[in-house]
Amino acid sequence: MTIKKVMVIGAGQMGSGIAQVCAQSGYDVLLNDVSEEAIQKGFGHIDKLLTKSVDKERISEQKKNDTLSRIQPTTDIQKVENCDMVIEAIVENMDVKTKVFRELDASAPSHAILATNTSSLPITEMAAATNRPDQIIGMHFMNPVPVMKLVEVIRGLQTSDETYQAVADMAKELSKTAVEVNDYPGFAANRILMPMINEAIYAVHEDVASVEDIDTVMKLGMNHPMGPLTLADFIGLDTCLYIMEVLHDGFGDSKYRPCPLLRKYVNAGWLGKKSGRGFYQYS
Ligand code: NAI
Repeated sequence: MTIKKVMVIGAGQMGSGIAQVCAQSGYDVLLNDVSEEAIQKGFGHIDKLLTKSVDKERISEQKKNDTLSRIQPTTDIQKVENCDMVIEAIVENMDVKTKVFRELDASAPSHAILATNTSSLPITEMAAATNRPDQIIGMHFMNPVPVMKLVEVIRGLQTSDETYQAVADMAKELSKTAVEVNDYPGFAANRILMPMINEAIYAVHEDVASVEDIDTVMKLGMNHPMGPLTLADFIGLDTCLYIMEVLHDGFGDSKYRPCPLLRKYVNAGWLGKKSGRGFYQYS
């Protein structure tokens, strides 16, 4: 199938990045959010990143203007009636996502693929809320979207081969590398990353080494660009806890139990960089 027009739902951190890379690759984009204000915030973010790229001579002024002109803001989800593809990037809440998928299913053309950027929620369950479970798929971009090369393409139980292929081809068009993943808690990326972060937190909890030294072990010893505790602060400790709970509940295996220190920090409101305090302090 040919994908020309894409609706991105949610103009936040991830949605604005997804809209940007789609428009940069020549797709017409409808950027949807619940309010004009939220869309303008997302649009402003895209404008700022593209302006930075022009300043650094990575792209021309013309390319920036062409990219921006391909993104149409809209608060009207019904406009999906003209789209071949939807990428949903709204709040990580199953009830809210399922409601949006029902609305999209009712209004989108029958050929349209409905993808979700969820980092942890089951694709198969979202698909079951629609009448086109074979055309529902996970398209999990990494943050920040314009920089990170990976897209996990997640097949729900009923996702068709045609849908998978169309989405994998689109990821390639976006200059991303797609990996094929089946629908299990945490998919592949977070199933591997989060237990590593959780284990680093256990190491702090059990006083194996200091926060700084644990990060140094992984940076200098394993060549990771960033230590796991710094990374946890960037992701948000509430998000890390949430994903550990998804793994713990989903597998029922004690190896995924969230570290009590992680829970304690979240309860204290120490959420990482966004709250000014996590494993490190931010001014
Ligand atoms: P965000 O909070 O920055 O943005 C969410 C946006 O969705 C907000 O602008 C909000 O107004 C909008 N929204 C909420 N309900 C809506 C609705 N019914 N219709 C239209 N818009 C609606 O969140 P973020 O970080 O961009 O995350 C979005 C999704 O991407 C989540 O599912 C998250 O798990 C996933 N994700 C997040 C990553 C991250 O590092 N932040 C990485 C990979 C995936």
